[in-house]
Amino acid sequence: MEKSFHITTFGCQMNEHDSETLVGLLLEKGYVQAEDRNSANIVIFNTCSVRENADKRFFGTLGQLKKRKMEEGENFTVCVCGCMMQQQHVVDTLKAKYPWVDVIFGTHNLHQLPQLLDNLYKEKEKQISILPDREEIVEGLPAKRLYHHKALVNIMYGCNNFCTYCIVPYTRGREKSRAPEEILREIRNLADDGVREVMLLGQNVNSYRGKSADGSLTDFSALLHQLQEVKGLERIRFMTSHPKDLSDDLIQAFRDCPKLGKYIHLPVQAGSSRVLERMNRRYSREQYLKLVDKLRSAVPDIAISTDIIVGFPGETEEDFEETLRLCEEVRYDSAFTFLYSVRKGTPAEHYEDQIPEEVKHERFNRLVEVVNRISAEKNAAYLGRTERVLVEGPGKNGDGTFCGRTESYKLVNFAGSPEMTGCLADIKITGSNTFSLTGEIVGLETGEE
Ligand code: SAH
Ligand code: SF4
Ligand code: F3S
Repeated sequence: MEKSFHITTFGCQMNEHDSETLVGLLLEKGYVQAEDRNSANIVIFNTCSVRENADKRFFGTLGQLKKRKMEEGENFTVCVCGCMMQQQHVVDTLKAKYPWVDVIFGTHNLHQLPQLLDNLYKEKEKQISILPDREEIVEGLPAKRLYHHKALVNIMYGCNNFCTYCIVPYTRGREKSRAPEEILREIRNLADDGVREVMLLGQNVNSYRGKSADGSLTDFSALLHQLQEVKGLERIRFMTSHPKDLSDDLIQAFRDCPKLGKYIHLPVQAGSSRVLERMNRRYSREQYLKLVDKLRSAVPDIAISTDIIVGFPGETEEDFEETLRLCEEVRYDSAFTFLYSVRKGTPAEHYEDQIPEEVKHERFNRLVEVVNRISAEKNAAYLGRTERVLVEGPGKNGDGTFCGRTESYKLVNFAGSPEMTGCLADIKITGSNTFSLTGEIVGLETGEE
């Protein structure tokens, strides 16, 4: 029987890229990718533990598969992996309440999936393999990209920052940087394969320190300079940068590296220095605002987005108002807002002054109103401008329009056609709303020389 698989991915771009790797690994072994979960006989969930609702969504979806597993038995395989599996209590829950799950693996052993499936089919026994964090980075794994012309590229793994609310350092382990040669080789190959935009991934790209075979170290801005030279590559983006490590060199790189998109995601998390300290963010409100000033003096039209947590333990109304005022001051192009969610095993789990749910929600709604109003105003300022857009393909509205991103990473919808995908287009902006722009093509560059 043909073995077909389907992967459901929760969480961030790290997970998205891990799933691309899992797809690559399975295709290489002759498995085929199914259109949807129902038509697959191997179903894989790549999980996220960053907030409680991600956990809940996973268990909810997993539970729906029990009936099918009971009916089809050995002919239907259920695998789970990702960040949640690096938490012992989750694996214990799975063993106790979902004993019919066939394969469980973690974030440090993606490459073992084909082997685990082989073992399952040979030994007829469920496979649980979670590796602890380790120094070694497995290089050279295949990946099946979601998009033809843009690619996610890990430059580092893990996180050493231990923000007091966050589970990621526990699920992804300590910070490890890939060698610059490996990154360059991968990106050159991608560019040869038609990729025009790369998104460099790391929990804190500013602390990238790649070690070469001769022992020399490359920091993040030096890596960006090296990547400028890759032929065929048009745009370089990165995600995420931690304010405490945002160097003057990196700010300067926005001026010196023409391929670097004029956009930065700079999570602030809170506007009150008191809360920031309790979060262990290691910068103050004032230091953050100074960074924003520096970025804007170097690149006046740089777009800035952020992440904000509402209702961290001990957040007072005054603290929260400081967050609102900071948003008014910075005027973010966009902001991802989250309700604080207690994570088992983090320091903030034990903070006594947890905020009542209704207070969190009330503050959250007030914050969303402010950030959305500002996003809409920022987008409206693009009306009448002509922007260079990398065409991504058909938009998500399903109305036949195409979409792409400006240099500042704004989403633009426009009338296009399939052969434009991956091309650079000059688009006159004719409409704007909170989350996107609309426009008309006034010029097109195919990139073929
Ligand atoms: N490394 C990235 C963030 C990864 S997690 C960085 O530091 O910027 C993505 C976002 O999820 C965080 O920026 C934070 O805003 C949010 N987040 C993390 N833990 C959370 C929690 N326990 N409750 C609510 N939001 C959380
Ligand atoms: Fe989590 Fe902080 Fe690390 Fe980001 S920097 S992943 S928020 S611990
Ligand atoms: Fe990402 Fe979620 Fe893991 S945000 S790193 S997939 S906990």
